[in-house]
Amino acid sequence: MNRVKISPSILSADFSKLAEEVRAVDKAGADYIHIDVMDGHFVPNISFGTPIIRDIRPHSKKVFDVHLMIEPATPYLESFANSGADIITVHAEADKHLDRNLEYIRSLGKKAGVSLNPSTPPSAIEQVIDKLDLILVMTVNPGFSGQKFISSQLEKIVKIKELIGGRCIELSVDGGVNANNASSIVEAGADVLVAGSAVFGEKNYGSAISALRDIDG
Ligand code: DX5
Ligand code: ZN
Repeated sequence: MNRVKISPSILSADFSKLAEEVRAVDKAGADYIHIDVMDGHFVPNISFGTPIIRDIRPHSKKVFDVHLMIEPATPYLESFANSGADIITVHAEADKHLDRNLEYIRSLGKKAGVSLNPSTPPSAIEQVIDKLDLILVMTVNPGFSGQKFISSQLEKIVKIKELIGGRCIELSVDGGVNANNASSIVEAGADVLVAGSAVFGEKNYGSAISALRDIDG
């Protein structure tokens, strides 16, 4: 089994010193930087947009894993690509034309991801699976950090892992991930763990990241 990747979500960072926070998790061993964009329409919360991504871009060479919780996403994909995203993940539930969005993201030279809300079945991505670089399984209802992990999603992670088969697609899990449940999530099939409060809520980011990674999975 490959070593699990850790993608700290800056939604839980201190925004008054965001660049410093990004540098700190980079140095602490993060593999990706998870960037949650929320529009107050697709999800009941507003976070930030492309200017923030552009401004933190020079502070880390790590993969910028941009999770768009916006509807529509299509008109903004080019500007997210230009702002410094490496992976752009859209929600299967958001725009009508998921297949077109995924092709568009790849045509912009970025990796294409799709995210599934807890109520969305794995079948939602069957028809687009060959256009995907990443699948982001939401284990909370998106909108806020610090929510409780929905354990019914473990079964869905197993099913999606089966669906991926031998394809080169990363399976990422987002929401309520912590050092106590990380091993069962990795055992179910996760390649990437997104963690907001489990990293930024701790004093020592390095040991918080190690605690998520040092699991028996
Ligand atoms: C939720 C976001 C998550 C969130 C994770 O809508 O997509 O990335 O920040 O935060 P925790 O790990 O605290 O659940
Ligand atoms: Zn996220």
